[in-house]
Amino acid sequence: MTTPRQASRGDAGDSRRDGKVRVLVTGAGGPAAIAAMKSLRADESVELIAADMDPWASGLYLVPAGARTLIPAGAAPDFTEVLLTRCLTLGVHVVVPTVDSELRPLAHAREAFAVVGIGLLLAPAAALDVILDKLALVQRCASVVRTPRTELFGPAVDPASWEYPVIVKPRTGSGSRGIITVGSAAQLAALDRSPTLIVQDFLPGEEYSVDVLADASGHVIASVPRLRARVDSGVSVGGRTVHDPEVERFGRAVAEATGVTYVANVQCRRDAYGRPALLEVNPRMPGTLGLTIASGVDMPRLALAALLGRPLPAELDFRETAVVRFLDERFLDPADILSIELTRS
Ligand SMILES: Nc1ncnc2c1ncn2[C@@H]1O[C@H](COP(=O)(O)OP(=O)(O)O)[C@@H](O)[C@H]1O
Ligand SMILES: [Mg+2]
Repeated sequence: MTTPRQASRGDAGDSRRDGKVRVLVTGAGGPAAIAAMKSLRADESVELIAADMDPWASGLYLVPAGARTLIPAGAAPDFTEVLLTRCLTLGVHVVVPTVDSELRPLAHAREAFAVVGIGLLLAPAAALDVILDKLALVQRCASVVRTPRTELFGPAVDPASWEYPVIVKPRTGSGSRGIITVGSAAQLAALDRSPTLIVQDFLPGEEYSVDVLADASGHVIASVPRLRARVDSGVSVGGRTVHDPEVERFGRAVAEATGVTYVANVQCRRDAYGRPALLEVNPRMPGTLGLTIASGVDMPRLALAALLGRPLPAELDFRETAVVRFLDERFLDPADILSIELTRS
């Protein structure tokens, strides 16, 4: 496990002597980062730094001006290098990535961060390799939970062998992009095949999003299922956490099978017989984390405690809670937005 450096270097060391842990949260414009920052700022020992590629990212303005920083996109070739340099300049001890495109590059650069004492709140690269490939994920989990029949959409797929509808979706997709529901064998046969796509049994039932908290060695401490009540333009605007031992066990089993650490989000949906079956795993904090925190499991704070090697409870329960969500506003001097450009260098 990577543990943040001891008081050994420049201002970072100074801040640890102050008892402060400087935590940089990426993707500050997204709901996951905002939920994480709301949780972590309640901890007096934490000093937050908000990072994003866009000066208009709302979460930047939840922290003081000196704690806002612009970084490249996760897919940029210099992403990890620039982030590491920035972390050293700002005396960061822990990075919390919340953007999908950042996860793999960061996991592969973990050692470069570790040698200067910076910890990443991020699953091991080996777990990410499985989780971010929806075919590999199904294969990995098939022996521990129910998984829908899933095949690469290559020449070997026999449309006559499937029951319809089926789902065709990107093997490494996110954000519900490129998902097609296919109603018949003729329709499937007419689609262009590609090794970047998978075919999957359609799961017709209720969908759950299960937030899972695991310690640094992958031991699962909490599994909190959420049901979506209302979705507006793809964004969950109403939902509730539910006690369902079968779904809770499901989230736990998938997390353990993949070796995910800290916070992950397991998605499943009931099949035609009402049995939960695996959709996918998001190996990072989800945008709906606020509900899980309100349900009594403060995953960002607990995950940070796990990374810092502090003791955690072996298991945590939650109380059923509902949420309604809305957009909120901060009014700023326009110069605040423009001046942040300066932190690019
Ligand atoms: N096999 C399936 N059966 C039914 N619905 C599906 C299936 N696969 C995906 N979906 C629907 O599409 C949404 C997005 O799919 P998902 O696999 O989670 O990909 P993404 O990474 O884009 O979120 C799911 O939340 C679900 O509503
Ligand atoms: Mg999904």
